[in-house]
Amino acid sequence: MANRLFIKKSIPKLMVEAADDGKGLKRSLTAFSLIALGIGAIIGAGLFVRTAAAAANNAGPSVTLGFIVAGIGCALAGLCYAEFASMIPVSGSAYTYSYATMGELVAWIIGWDLVLEYALGAATVSIAWSEYLNKLLGYFDLNIPYQWCHSPFEASVAGTHGIMNIPALFILFLLSILLIRGARESALVNAIIVITKVSIVILFIVFGWHFINPANHTPFIPEATKFVDAQGVSHNFGGILGILGAAGVVFFAFIGFDAVSTAAQETKNPKKAMPIGILGSLVICTVLYILFSYVLTGVATLNDFRTAGKEASVTYAIQTYMTGYGWLAKLVTIAILAGFSSVILVMLYGQSRVFYSMSKDGLVPRLFSDLHPKFRTPHKSNWVFLGFVGIFACFIPQDIVGDMTSIGTLFAFMLVCAGVWIMRVKSPELKRGFKTPFVPWVPIAGIIVCGAMIYGLGYANWVRLFIWMAIGFIIYFSYSIRKSKLNKEMKNDKK
Ligand code: ALA
Repeated sequence: MANRLFIKKSIPKLMVEAADDGKGLKRSLTAFSLIALGIGAIIGAGLFVRTAAAAANNAGPSVTLGFIVAGIGCALAGLCYAEFASMIPVSGSAYTYSYATMGELVAWIIGWDLVLEYALGAATVSIAWSEYLNKLLGYFDLNIPYQWCHSPFEASVAGTHGIMNIPALFILFLLSILLIRGARESALVNAIIVITKVSIVILFIVFGWHFINPANHTPFIPEATKFVDAQGVSHNFGGILGILGAAGVVFFAFIGFDAVSTAAQETKNPKKAMPIGILGSLVICTVLYILFSYVLTGVATLNDFRTAGKEASVTYAIQTYMTGYGWLAKLVTIAILAGFSSVILVMLYGQSRVFYSMSKDGLVPRLFSDLHPKFRTPHKSNWVFLGFVGIFACFIPQDIVGDMTSIGTLFAFMLVCAGVWIMRVKSPELKRGFKTPFVPWVPIAGIIVCGAMIYGLGYANWVRLFIWMAIGFIIYFSYSIRKSKLNKEMKNDKK
């Protein structure tokens, strides 16, 4: 049994499969284009929506410190990701790397966990998209009634209850159709979106700086207490625990840098370019995030983030406090809607790609790798995930899906950190283009910092992660282990 659980895909075999899969892929990406790819996937709802939620529920202005903690955790895990990516320079994700290095069970755990990152991540961003859409409609004196753009677990200040979030479903539907028709964001579109996103972040920092009210930053680290939000959920607010909780929440804003590692096959000199791409995009985003959150929490009050400014908080802060900058509010709203769409596209794409690999390996049903006869895309998978993601987007509040995304990804990062360390001990002979420095200290520090953020996310999120993983184990032991191609091959070899 143990043999079966830890059966590994051989690296040469992976390379052959990758070469087949990637026929015609040109090695055209440079370190610079990888950084652009990373930033395109990274900046999104985490910054423009979750920052306000973390300030409101966990840390007030010290959410800025939360960004520093989250940035450190990501840099440590990023160094480990870079070693994996350079060891197995094929397109893929943590799932592919772990199948080759740590065996099937760990690969399954990571692949299953990545559903939280990609599918629920897409749901979170689509809910955020819906908030900013309403702001945009507001400029034309239109709006979507509260009940049709909120989950049943939310209520407005006036007491209206949500029913379902239709705009979130709408954007998911639209982007799924695009994916099915084979759309992948082109490098040009990505570059335009990256420039737009970075520009509005910088504009907000520069113009908003003059509107910082020092009173909003005092005390910078609120005293530790409990805060009960509108849904009746209690959060650790203030103090160290508040900062850790905020770090876990805004960790969402960093998710996506691992997307860089999936482009290894299209990269010139991946061994050098990969680590630069991963770490470079992280450093740029971390600096922007720290400044942005400092300004946002200085412009609007804590009470705003808990009430009227809870949704589309950036536009709200500009409209309410930055007199004369109405144009910036409009620009930000439009840019954010475009930016969110690109993040959702990357996440839905990533999700179908991970399940495509898992299906090819026999761990999930064939339908996830069935290709559309004309478009050559895993269309059935796209439809299934539209349904799955859509249910979360329509009926679950953003705080919950956002935090589940964070906790799931943090858990995957911890496994990647552990994996790099294990591989150094067990297979020191394998060639590595990039070596994580100071092993085992960097992986250990990565595990501790990511673990601390998981701790900060609190009990309810631990339970949700536990339930999700338990469902995964049931599926693995009742289905995947029997259907696994590698396991079947092993049995045949024995006969
Ligand atoms: N990091 C991405 C975002 O914040 C997922 O939207």
